[in-house]
Amino acid sequence: MPGKVTVVGAGFYGSTTAMRLAEYDIFDEVVLTDIVEGKAEGLALDMNQSRPVEGFETKVVGQTTGLDGSGYEAIAGSDIVVITAGLPRKPGMSRMDLIETNAKIVRQVAENVAKHAPNAVVIVVSNPLDEMTALTQIATGFPHNRVIGQAGMLDTARFSHFVAERLGKPIASVQTLTLGSHGDTMVPVPSRCTVDGQPLADLMPSAEIEELVVRTRNGGAEVVALLKTGSAYYAPSAAAARMAKAVAEDSGDVMPVCAWVDGEYGIEGVYLGVEAEIGREGVRKVVETDLTESELEGLKEAAEAVRAKQADVQDL
Ligand code: LAC
Repeated sequence: MPGKVTVVGAGFYGSTTAMRLAEYDIFDEVVLTDIVEGKAEGLALDMNQSRPVEGFETKVVGQTTGLDGSGYEAIAGSDIVVITAGLPRKPGMSRMDLIETNAKIVRQVAENVAKHAPNAVVIVVSNPLDEMTALTQIATGFPHNRVIGQAGMLDTARFSHFVAERLGKPIASVQTLTLGSHGDTMVPVPSRCTVDGQPLADLMPSAEIEELVVRTRNGGAEVVALLKTGSAYYAPSAAAARMAKAVAEDSGDVMPVCAWVDGEYGIEGVYLGVEAEIGREGVRKVVETDLTESELEGLKEAAEAVRAKQADVQDL
């Protein structure tokens, strides 16, 4: 089925995502949009010129959009829309410091997506992630399963990288998991972490696991502090593109994503980082995993923290 995918926002996160999607060579068309005149068109032209070298047929289309909604005709009929629009953090900022500014931007984008691509599955990556995902669902009016946030794939990837690096193991040997929010109440799940099938707890003292957990929780801020302008995009775009691919291929892959949780884990009605089966309709179902008591407690705390903030975004 893979047809048309749109990436809204041609910053580093958006443009890298568009490039990864094009290089998969499974889509007919990747549309990249931005409000900066000519930016998306220029990047699309550049990506298209890489086609003979990288050997992909997918066409990339760039489109400038206006705050009045002009240009959004280009996204018509998209099967998938990835929303990266919004400002990234500066050093010292938390993701939550972006809430008011990004809520205005994301709401406007979401309304245009609903108008021009009413059947799309939407993958949100703008920060603060859990809140922007909730806002997108409200502003599009799409069913909850068709609006998903990207965070768990990224946080899990960071955790796996830190474990592999610390133990000197190939990245392919390492399995990790993070749930909860993409923020202070992120819940790394050591009980689900293995290296070559062996529990992480057998390979590393708990203090060291905790150190990597803390580094994972601060994984985005660590990159922001080094870059000084802008935030991470290589690992984030890899994660977002994989989610879009799972939707496009109706793969049924189980991935950690920000999904609507309503009843699972005894948690009611909130967007939260959990594992979910991903397919053509977005989230097929939330997959509950066995958690230790303290991990479950962490997940419930995360749910309450994001619930309070998600209620605020309705009015932003
Ligand atoms: C990060 C941002 C993109 O975690 O949320 O790097």
